[in-house]
Amino acid sequence: MELKIYKDHNELSAAAADIIFDCVKNKPEALLCFATGDSPKLAYQLFVEKAIEESLDLTGCFFIGLDEWVGISPDNTGSCHWYLNEYIFKPLNIDSSQFHLFNALAKNEEEECRKMNKLISTNGIDLAVVGVGMNGHIGFNEPGTDIHSLAHAAELDEITRTVGQKYFENEVTITKGITVGLKQLLEAETLLMLANGTKKAPVIKKVVEEDISVNFPATLIRQHKNGFLIIDNEAASELTTEAK
Ligand code: F6R
Repeated sequence: MELKIYKDHNELSAAAADIIFDCVKNKPEALLCFATGDSPKLAYQLFVEKAIEESLDLTGCFFIGLDEWVGISPDNTGSCHWYLNEYIFKPLNIDSSQFHLFNALAKNEEEECRKMNKLISTNGIDLAVVGVGMNGHIGFNEPGTDIHSLAHAAELDEITRTVGQKYFENEVTITKGITVGLKQLLEAETLLMLANGTKKAPVIKKVVEEDISVNFPATLIRQHKNGFLIIDNEAASELTTEAK
């Protein structure tokens, strides 16, 4: 894994946007797996701007959503569905045949997971863009998730339930998530993890300096041969000098 520290959220987002852009440019049929949340939002906006400016051909690539809150409608502005539509698919005019998102309202969650697994096993993920939760989760791979997990629905950790309220205009009950699994993320050709701000500083310290363990899933990125942990100075502020 490579650790890259930038001045601020703008700079780290510009660097991440370039990596996404180059991935599609170099492999027009790339399979891209995108997280939602605050960390990658600006990177996506900058990627969209650059893709439009430079007329990047996106007609051959395919997008999958990393995860979704089970039971939350796609119209809800806190859903991952809404976010990816709003920040990526709509502005880039991506046809619905070019993306697949978990259906959070599906009665049969196993079937939802099977569909996602099939897609990933056919192509393999070229680039996964993820954030890191306050409990070290990646997607909804909560602490203690099996390292060999494929797509699965999971009970959400207390921290995820509490922190997750920030995405919703009105309070919601979120108890379960559905997510691409750790094995699939660790097998992605490139794994990009973004974090910014002082509130992520203690989390990043653990990601970089604690033992690699599923108890803090984000530490697993250190085993990825093409993993990039892209953070800003604030998120890096608790790292020991040697780690930097
Ligand atoms: C969202 C997701 C989550 C977030 C994580 C960090 O799709 O997969 O794992 O990436 O909770 O969220 P932010 O970026 O809002 O701090």
